[in-house]
This record gives sequence, structure tokens and C-alpha cells, in this order.
Amino acid sequence: MAEYSYFGPIAELVSMDALPLKGAIQENALGLLTRQGVLARNGMIQEIGEHEKLLPFAKKAGAEIHIFDTPLVALPGLIDCHTHICFSGSRARDYALRNAGSTYLEIAKAGGGIWDTVTRTRQALEGELIRGITTRVGKHISQGVTTIEVKSGYGLTTEEELKMLRAIRKAGDSVPADLISTCLAAHMLPRDYAGSSKEYLEMLGNELLPRITEEGLSKRVDAFVEEGAFSPSDILPYLEKAKGLGFEITVHADQFTTGGSQVAIDCQALSADHLEASTPKEVSALAQSDVIAVALPGASLGLGCGFTPARALLDAGASLAIASDHNPGSAPMGQLLTQAAILGAREKLTTPEVFAGITFRAAAALNLSDRGILRKGMLTDMVLFPTNDHREILYHQGSLQPVYTIKKGKIVYSKPEA
Ligand code: NIG
Ligand code: FE
Repeated sequence: MAEYSYFGPIAELVSMDALPLKGAIQENALGLLTRQGVLARNGMIQEIGEHEKLLPFAKKAGAEIHIFDTPLVALPGLIDCHTHICFSGSRARDYALRNAGSTYLEIAKAGGGIWDTVTRTRQALEGELIRGITTRVGKHISQGVTTIEVKSGYGLTTEEELKMLRAIRKAGDSVPADLISTCLAAHMLPRDYAGSSKEYLEMLGNELLPRITEEGLSKRVDAFVEEGAFSPSDILPYLEKAKGLGFEITVHADQFTTGGSQVAIDCQALSADHLEASTPKEVSALAQSDVIAVALPGASLGLGCGFTPARALLDAGASLAIASDHNPGSAPMGQLLTQAAILGAREKLTTPEVFAGITFRAAAALNLSDRGILRKGMLTDMVLFPTNDHREILYHQGSLQPVYTIKKGKIVYSKPEA
């Protein structure tokens, strides 16, 4: 039997409908609907319409009715399209060392950095990883995030990468958010690997990726293209192999040095993420491609370095998503909305450009066409903020917290005093 639920009245509904996938968006481009109701059927949006008209219809359908007696603004459930929330241990030491003058790459060379988290994550049992993911996902949900991409990449052997991906899948089975897993075994050349980068990547392509497909653990492959990680010429054959096996591609690109974004373009990746070091040349090449540029302001804040040239990317015509990069090393904060608002203030992004970056443009970076917009037929994933003016959301830079997060037509988070 169909399961209906109804939410209303919603003072201002920001549907994000009918906005472009690429390029700049004017401040006044949002089609705002006032005093709306949303009727969900089996988790999908059945109807959006005037509250007074839709409520009787919802009652007749036997919907579970949620009436709001304070003004609320609705956005599509937020989408965090780049995280590394499957890990064990802390890198507080790295953070202190960086602030005392060492660089991210120096710390990595000295055995800290990603390798430190690899050691801790290898020591962790699957159950511990699942608990860590679940706790972090809970925090994201309380901030209105309903879809979260989660990468492996702290295992760096076939078995350890599979352990991470299985933990992500099991955590995903029990949390009220969708977890989209990505294999990031090409995060760095493991220190305990006897062979070369080329041999490691061949091993991943021949051994690990087929196992991932066999177990249905992930459809996505990511790689860190950077000095100290993998060079463009090392990584291209691996990414082509992954594509041939049916994987979607995403790339950690242009974080400290350029090169990665061209790799993303050459292998028609869904997204190129980071881009802090991109120059006008990379910006224009990305804009001419279908690759989504993903800014990760949390990494800029965590490392204390410059932001992705988001304004330039949008003005050149690129599609821009914004993600938290939540990870123990470069981006421990894990607050998507705060970070997106800060990027917006710093880079002079319009309200719709920031909202697009954490809704439908982030959905496109994950190749998901059923979310990121509040429209009939899409998932009823929604976040409700306690205000009657959508501009208050970014203005408070994350401190205006949602009162409700709704996933597939069900309230999965409500603020304690709400
Ligand atoms: O996106 N840049 C590479 N990978 C991660 C950091 C992972 C880590 O430092 O543990 C990132 O910033
Ligand atoms: Fe990352």
C-alpha cells in the first residue's frame, strides 16, 4: 500500500527547479514559492502546491500529516559530494605542526599525513569503522545533509580497501541518509608496497577493481593526482582501465600543483575536486568541458590556504559544486553549510550559486538525477530552516541550524527544542 506523508505550511520553498547546470546564476533567479505544502508518496514528491489546497487532498489520501506552526524555509536535502568519513584516529598533531610552520607535504613525507591515518585505519576492525561513519553521518544529517559521498583510500591494499568499502556499505544500510561510496585506493603509493606506482596501479586495476564489482561495493573510482601522490602519466592508464570496467571517475585535482584537472577532462570524469591551484588556463579548460568543478572550502580552512577560484569558474561557464571534504587530515570540521557560506562570502557567490553547489549541482557530480531539486517525481529529501527568508540561511554561516531534516518523506532529524 502506498505510504503518504504531508508537510506544510512551508513559508518559503526554494525548489532549485529550472536553474542551469553550468555557469553563473543571478541573485534573483530563484523561483520562490510561498505557503506551500509537500505531499510525498513512497518517499517521492507526489505534489507541491498551496498549503490550503493540498492539505485536504493529503488528508483524503490518509497521509501522515505534519503541520508547522512557525515559519520555515525549505531547501532540497543537502548533498555532500566529497568526504572521507571512513577512518580511524585523529590528526590533531598534523594540524598543530602545520600551524607551527610545517607544510602538508612535508608532514606527509615525514610519515605523518595520510599514511598515519592508513596505519590507524588498518588497525581498526570493521565494526569500529562503521561506528565512526555512523556518528559522523549523524552530524551531517543534523545539518540537513541527506546524501553523502564516502571514499575509501586509507586501506591501500586489496583487503583493506575492501574492508573500508564494506564498512561504508554496512553503515549505509543503517543510517537515514544515502551513502555513495567511492574507491580511492589511488590516494598515495603505500609505503609498505615494494613495487612502483605503475605496479601498484596495475595491481589495483587487475585485482581490487574486479573484486569491488563482484561484491557490488562501489561504482566510482577516485585518484589523488599530485606531487607526492600520482602523476598524470601514472594515473591515466589506471583511470582508463577503471572506466573500461564500468566505473565512474572523479579526481582529486590541482590541490597544490596543476595537472589533475586536465586528467579529469581527458578521461571525462564526472568531477574534478579541490582546484585551489587552478590558474585561468585550467579554469577555462574545465568550463569548456562537462566536468563538474568541486570546491572544498573545508580543506582550505583546515590547511589555512587559498580557496578554489569559484567565482572565476562560474563566470567562465563551469558547473560548481561545493563539498566538505570531511577527513581527519586536511578538513576535520565537516560542516558543509558553514563552509559553503564562507566560500560564498569570500568568492562573492550569489545565494543561488551557493545553494546550487550543495544541491542539484552536487547531485550531478554524483550522477544522481533523482534529487537536489524539489519537484514532483524527485525524492522527498528536504531540509527546513527556522526563518521566513531564505537569505538568512547563508547569512548565519551555518549557525542557523535546521529544525527538520526529511529523508524520503520521513523526518529523520528534528532539533531537540523543535
Ligand atoms: O581531499 N588531498 C588528498 N586527500 C584528502 C586528504 C586526506 C587526508 O589528509 O587524510 C583531501 O584533502
Ligand atoms: Fe578529498
